[in-house]
Amino acid sequence: MIMMFDAETFVNGQLHKIKEQVRDGKAIIACSGGVDSLVCAGLASKAIGDRLLAVFVDTGLMRKGETEQVRTMLEEMNVNFRILEEADYFLDGLKGITDPERKRKTIGERFIRCFEREAKGFGAKYLVQGTIAPDVIESGADGKGLVKSHHNVGGLPKDMDLELVEPVIELYKDEVRQVARHLGIRASERQPFPGPGLSVRCLGEVTKENVEIVREACHIVEDEIQKASREGRMDIPWQYFAALLPVMSTGVRDGGRMYGMTIAVRAVLTKDAISAVPAHIPYDVLENISKRINGALGDKVTRVVYDITSKPPATIEWE
Ligand code: XMP
Repeated sequence: MIMMFDAETFVNGQLHKIKEQVRDGKAIIACSGGVDSLVCAGLASKAIGDRLLAVFVDTGLMRKGETEQVRTMLEEMNVNFRILEEADYFLDGLKGITDPERKRKTIGERFIRCFEREAKGFGAKYLVQGTIAPDVIESGADGKGLVKSHHNVGGLPKDMDLELVEPVIELYKDEVRQVARHLGIRASERQPFPGPGLSVRCLGEVTKENVEIVREACHIVEDEIQKASREGRMDIPWQYFAALLPVMSTGVRDGGRMYGMTIAVRAVLTKDAISAVPAHIPYDVLENISKRINGALGDKVTRVVYDITSKPPATIEWE
C-alpha cells in the first residue's frame, strides 16, 4: 500500500524528534532563504524557540533583493535570526577558481566557518540543515556516483564540531512545499535556489562584476516569466534562471564592433529535480528576455541563447 505524505503528521513527528535531539541545548541553522532551510528554521524554532539562531549569510552570491526578502520572511515567522554580510570573504575565497567542484567546496567550507563562529558565540552545539533527499543522492552519499557536491552535503569540513539536525532529509521538494504551506511559510511557492548561490550560474571565475551580470540577467528572466504567467500565457516553470558563460563572441553596438560574453536562459519542469525537461516558454517571451538583457547588459553580453537540454544528460544548474 502506498502511504500518502501527510504534512501535519510529519510536522508533529519532527517537533518531537528535534526536542529529543537538542533537549535543552542550543542550535544554529544555516538559512539560505530557500524553502528547505526556511521550513527547517520554522520547525526548529517551533521546537526550541529562541534556543535556535537562524543565520543568513549574504555571500554576495544572492539574487536581486533576496537578502531583504529573507529578512522579511524570518521576521514574519518570528524566528530568532542574524544576517551576516560576508560578500568580500566569499568572493575573496573564489578568486582564481574555475573548477565547479572546487568552487562548491570553497563556498561550503566558508559557510561552515561562518556558522561555526556564530555557533560558538551563541553557544550552539547543533547545526540544523535543510538537506533534502535529492541533495544526498546527487552528492553520492547514498553510495552511488557523485553528480555534484551539494554544499550542505559534500562541503562540510571533516573537523566540524557541531552535531547535525536534518529534519527534511527524507523529503522531496514537493513534500517540503506541503510542509511549508502547512506551517504558513510564505516561501512555499518560491522557486528553488541553490546553496552556493549565483556562483553555480557564473561559469569560469566568479568575480564581483560577473555576479552582477548574472544577477541582473536572472532578475530579467524571473520578471518576464512571472509576468507571462500572470497574463495566463504560460505556467510557471519549476525553476527558471540565467547562467553567464565565459564564451566570447562578436557583436555590433552603435555601429561598432563588440566582443562580449554569453547568457544562457534555462527553465525546467520536474517533480523531484532528479530528472527534468525543458519548459516551453512562448517565443515572444524569450525574445523579450533577450531584448531586455541586451538593453541592460549590452556592453558586456553579446549573445543570449536558450538551453533546451533535459536532465539527464544536463543537470538543472550549469555547475
Ligand atoms: P542540479 O543542478 O543538480 O540541481 O540538477 C537539482 C536542484 O538542486 C538545486 N541545487 C542545490 N541546492 N545546494 C542546494 O541547496 C546545492 O549545492 C545545490 N546545487 C543545486 C538546483 O538549483 C536544483 O533545484
